[in-house]
Amino acid sequence: LPPTLIDQFQRRVHYLRLSVTDRCDFRCVYCMAEDMTFAPKSEVLSLEELYQVARAFSELGVSKIRLTGGEPLVRNNILSLVQRLGQLPGLDELAITTNGSQLQRLAPALKDAGVARINISLDSLNPRKFRHLTRHGNLDQVIAGIDAAIAAGFEGIKLNAVVLKGRNEDEVLDLVRFARDRQIDIAFIEEMPLGLIDDHDRQLTFCSSDELRAMLAPHYHLSAQGNPGDSSGPARYYRLDDSPTRVGFISPHSNNFCHLCNRVRLTVEGRLLLCLGNEHSVDLREILRAPGYTPEKLKWAIVDAMAIKPERHYFDHSEEPRILRFMNTTGG
Ligand code: GTP
Ligand code: 5AD
Ligand code: SF4
Repeated sequence: LPPTLIDQFQRRVHYLRLSVTDRCDFRCVYCMAEDMTFAPKSEVLSLEELYQVARAFSELGVSKIRLTGGEPLVRNNILSLVQRLGQLPGLDELAITTNGSQLQRLAPALKDAGVARINISLDSLNPRKFRHLTRHGNLDQVIAGIDAAIAAGFEGIKLNAVVLKGRNEDEVLDLVRFARDRQIDIAFIEEMPLGLIDDHDRQLTFCSSDELRAMLAPHYHLSAQGNPGDSSGPARYYRLDDSPTRVGFISPHSNNFCHLCNRVRLTVEGRLLLCLGNEHSVDLREILRAPGYTPEKLKWAIVDAMAIKPERHYFDHSEEPRILRFMNTTGG
């Protein structure tokens, strides 16, 4: 077995995004349709299977794992998995991306289990608009969750805002102020065309990162920065003057970052997905559930999968989505 994972474009894969559930207590309009069918329990990897996959990746040189969803914190007994992952020797960074709804309750335990960084979605500071964008979310609960995470003392906290024209693009300055007041980071995300959503026409609501930077320019001086914690993520970061807050822009449409890609993802059903914007995948569940399963076999399948990691995504907001899978099965 090779010590690290390298694809055919010489990109080193050292980051796994692990989707632990496709379920969620929200129904964000850019992520899901109002009415969703979720994977039946028998198709979803067990916590033990998720651990086996994580361990295999860490033994292959993956040093960062981010738990995603759906909403990872609605998975039953998720803390027991987080605790086990926190003890994997090869892992430098255990992170989680969450909608924040459960953080008031879980932030201290996540910190104790070894989670270093938390990304929390926050698209609006207006309770009514927040409810419209998330369909089921409660703004006060999420803000209390953000504050609980700050109080728990994580190394890095980043807010994520997907910006839609006519819905929340007027809140960009307020969101930056909110992050600055709390001395945490924030990233603005261009919506990606995954799944057939039923709420809006993605062509009409598209809002580019350039437009957002232009909105911020009269108010803040932004100096270009690297990506905190990880040099090759999709976000371009800027630092606000006189503040530790970084403002990031994730621009799959206007600034392709695929040549720097360092990551692969696992869907809730155990498909190792080599790119968010393509369907190239390998079924790891089949290997995990085969009678002669060994960790070696799993690792070889992961090594072999690198050969089919595609060069880039072809998101094109002028077309119907080519990717029919919704964001919640892969967690972004
Ligand atoms: P880091 O681990 O700090 O790099 O976090 P991140 O910003 O990459 O992750 P997060 O879970 O906060 O996701 C923020 C946004 O980035 C979501 O909209 C994801 O879908 C998107 N994203 C993350 N990785 C990729 C990627 O490889 N390709 C694309 N197109 N989008 C990505
Ligand atoms: N495009 C871009 N980002 C999305 N997210 C969910 N759906 C989409 C989409 N269609 C974001 C969420 C969360 C992160 C995991 O992915 O806001 O912050
Ligand atoms: Fe749930 Fe996150 Fe999707 Fe919103 S973006 S519906 S919080 S998985």
